[in-house]
Amino acid sequence: MSTILVIDDKDSMREMLTASLTSEGYDVEVAGSGDVGIARSKEKHFDVILTDLKMPDISGMEVLTQVKEHDPETAVIVMTAYGTIETAVEAMKRGAFDFLQKPFDIDHLQMLVERALENQRLVAENLLLREELAQSLGFSEIIGASEKMVDVSRLVQKVSPSDTAVLLTGESGTGKELFARAIHSLSGRKNKPYITINCAAIPGELLENELFGSERGAFTSSHARKMGKFEIADGGTVFLDEIGDLEFSLQAKLLRVLQEHSFERLGGNKPIEVDVRVIAATNQNLQEAIGKQKFREDLFYRLSVFPIHIPPLRERQDDIVPLANHFVEKYSRRMKKGEKSLSREAIVILERYHWPGNVRELENTIERSIILTEGKKIKPEHLAIRLPSSEDIRLREGAGLREVGQYAQAQAERGMIVRVLGQTHGNKRKTAEILKIDYTTLFEKIKKYTIDGNS
Ligand SMILES: Nc1ncnc2c1ncn2[C@@H]1O[C@H](COP(=O)(O)OP(=O)(O)OP(=O)(O)O)[C@@H](O)[C@H]1O
Ligand SMILES: [Mg+2]
Repeated sequence: MSTILVIDDKDSMREMLTASLTSEGYDVEVAGSGDVGIARSKEKHFDVILTDLKMPDISGMEVLTQVKEHDPETAVIVMTAYGTIETAVEAMKRGAFDFLQKPFDIDHLQMLVERALENQRLVAENLLLREELAQSLGFSEIIGASEKMVDVSRLVQKVSPSDTAVLLTGESGTGKELFARAIHSLSGRKNKPYITINCAAIPGELLENELFGSERGAFTSSHARKMGKFEIADGGTVFLDEIGDLEFSLQAKLLRVLQEHSFERLGGNKPIEVDVRVIAATNQNLQEAIGKQKFREDLFYRLSVFPIHIPPLRERQDDIVPLANHFVEKYSRRMKKGEKSLSREAIVILERYHWPGNVRELENTIERSIILTEGKKIKPEHLAIRLPSSEDIRLREGAGLREVGQYAQAQAERGMIVRVLGQTHGNKRKTAEILKIDYTTLFEKIKKYTIDGNS
């Protein structure tokens, strides 16, 4: 039954509304003041709250604001006898579902309530539909606006429907696991098992047992027959994570599965036929491992029929902000902390940082910042990122001359602007004159370098 809370200081009004709404089959509660109403709405969720605007203690506008803060799904309808059109507009701006001008006829009120409820049902349905779609695609959670990621997505879409072996390479935290799952979800095997095996986490002989299973008595400890992951995954996909760590002896056995689609359990001699697609991932350089005779070249060619490289986050600057916004939304929703967004200053820092831990590090940074942020805006101090000094940059592996140059220029410009702003006591027009740049350029640089009045 839909629940409605009526807040009005007039007894006669509360009684009239209760009677007519109850007769329509709603579950109605009343409160004689804004205070009581707000308190009640914190204890219990109401589908609709009907509140008078002008009340002696707390106004209907305040009720609206507070309810929207702790229970944004509730539809609030504001009733007013004194209402000018401005108050009504203000109420709508603050998130009221609608307003009612007194005296109103009860049919009109009931129509509004019904519409509010219908609206909630639609929103819930849409959400469900979207979630189902996201799950079936396995893709909508992947954010990638940069050109490089669009290329990666294109490759993924192309290779997914086939049975081709895919090798995903990329630094730690770039999203290899996410893409492996997406490939499975986009393939004809999506309703069959998807089994992950982390080759680095399990030592040699145990791993063999995990992968291929064993017959009774194969080990002194094995009392029962054990099915291997390859058997369990029959018809589906096996994801071999950290393939670079697979023991040399097991590499030969894996190669055979890939070539012949069959294998034997430990201690068994009957070949078992399986139909699995293999996706492998590594953050190591397999070519180098081949050179050092740590990885079999023939296995490498089998696995990397279709290689996909996921570039590190620092090489796709355009993804940083969309990813950050995605995680802000994800974690504020998950932690029920209300709507939050990144301040301009925070965005500048996120864009400037070089993200050695890639998307995982960005995700962790945002998750932590949501815990720390009390207000609506995430500020630099919530991010706990230490931007590297120019020295760090120079020492950092792979930093190009161009990057060092840009950084040095930024540092020099910032220092100069801060100094001249100091001399002119913060007069931006004078500062721009002295620095021989126009006012808007100065303004942009101040924003870019996050210079505040106290620097
Ligand atoms: N493009 C993306 N869009 C949304 N989330 C992403 C994206 N890329 C990575 N992530 C998220 O970042 C985290 C790290 O990704 P993932 O575990 O797939 O990385 P990985 O490459 O397998 O790392 P490792 O080599 O350390 O195992 C995950 O929580 C993942 O959901
Ligand atoms: Mg991984």
